[in-house]
Amino acid sequence: MGPLYQGALLSFVCAQAPDAGRPPAHGDQVGRMDGGFTSDEKSGFYKAVYSRRDVRSGFTQRPVEAGVLGRILDAAHHAPSVGFSQPWNFILIKDEASRGKVRDSFYKERERSAALVDGERKSKYLSLKLEGILDSPVNVCVTYDPSKFGPFVIGRSAIPDTGVYSVCCAVQNLWLAARAEGVGVGWVSILSNDALREILGIPEGVLPVAYLCLGYVDEFATKPDLEAAGWLPRLGLPEVVYYERWGRGDAPGWEAVRDLMKSNLDTLK
Ligand SMILES: Cc1cc2nc3c(=O)[nH]c(=O)nc-3n(C[C@H](O)[C@H](O)[C@H](O)COP(=O)(O)O)c2cc1C
Repeated sequence: MGPLYQGALLSFVCAQAPDAGRPPAHGDQVGRMDGGFTSDEKSGFYKAVYSRRDVRSGFTQRPVEAGVLGRILDAAHHAPSVGFSQPWNFILIKDEASRGKVRDSFYKERERSAALVDGERKSKYLSLKLEGILDSPVNVCVTYDPSKFGPFVIGRSAIPDTGVYSVCCAVQNLWLAARAEGVGVGWVSILSNDALREILGIPEGVLPVAYLCLGYVDEFATKPDLEAAGWLPRLGLPEVVYYERWGRGDAPGWEAVRDLMKSNLDTLK
């Protein structure tokens, strides 16, 4: 919907609304013509973004209620997708035997990846807690099915990976919605996709994209575990923003943005 049309529609809706005094409900534009959020709504959004964490430990045994899980999954299902192909499926896993097998795969793959690093780095890697498969009450495997609405999907022909990108958008929605609900999520990628296929009965042609561990936690760490453990630092924003061409840290017309990048944007947190 174009902005002009949207504006006209909103004026119409606002003028016609018979229950203007009722509290705003989900989906309401609450009379704002620019579609922007109120400052409280923005704070809520940024709070979810900045305080989301990858959670591998500290899960409580409190089960995730059906309603909460439903909202989290529905948020994931409202992610953008190439050509509106919605190529995701969510396999919900509680079964301990299945989760035990997934964890066996984690240990095998961790062993294989440990062989790629030496000395102190290797022992540090092996000391990190990198999964919460059995500690969390629910696991979710998010898959990519390229055959959905296919084979022609608008926008996917030139860059086939856009299908998988869409699934990652769904994962991010899930992660943020879970944070808003107080539910921790940990992504485990130290796994064999072949093992996942076998354990979960995923057909050939469907790709497991994300294996997630979900559960309530008492608190969310303020920093990523890997940052706190001294594995890697967070890069500064100016280091990752280029202007006009790859590698350019400056260009005419971008001074205001560039200066802002150098200042402390933590006030949004
Ligand atoms: C694609 C992907 C795969 C990941 N795989 C793992 C994993 O196997 N084990 C793990 O502990 N964390 C995994 N993570 C979580 C990252 O380590 C984490 O996002 C990063 O350290 C930043 O921390 P934060 O998410 O708390 O901000 C993965 C994250 C992504 C996006």
